[in-house]
Amino acid sequence: MKMSPGRTSGTAFTADKETLAGYDQLLKKLNGSNLAYLHLMGAPGTIEERIALFSRHRAHHRGNIVADLGFTQALGNEILGHGVGDAVSFGAPFLANPDLVGRSAQGHPLAQADRETRYAGHAEGYTDYPAFSG
Ligand SMILES: Cc1cc2nc3c(=O)[nH]c(=O)nc-3n(C[C@H](O)[C@H](O)[C@H](O)COP(=O)(O)O)c2cc1C
Repeated sequence: MKMSPGRTSGTAFTADKETLAGYDQLLKKLNGSNLAYLHLMGAPGTIEERIALFSRHRAHHRGNIVADLGFTQALGNEILGHGVGDAVSFGAPFLANPDLVGRSAQGHPLAQADRETRYAGHAEGYTDYPAFSG
């Protein structure tokens, strides 16, 4: 199951205190649901802010938590090191880096995806980024 407790979208939706308190209850209720994992979209921020947010989720949910949103390899390792998530997910970095796993393992630099081609309805920006060639 994926949920976005940290999701803020301008004035349309804000992850304020009340929203997060609602998610606290929901995460507790899901403890009995035998889910494979909860995929939780956090919020952009410093590592301290990310740890604080995922610590809060961890405190309410005993099952596996996959931490999401804006992670780099280094930030992901920090989150996992603090034990507030069981795994970290990567979305957009896979667009520009079809070999993301290999690049990360080898310490190669990552390419940046062009936001203009995202959700544009074409294959461009989804299938045409090359693998690392040195
Ligand atoms: C091209 C693209 C399509 C996505 N489609 C969905 C979707 O259909 N449903 C969803 O919950 N999240 C979707 N996401 C969001 C990702 O699952 C993830 O939450 C988001 O990209 C944050 O991770 P990131 O910062 O590593 O990209 C999509 C992301 C990208 C880049």
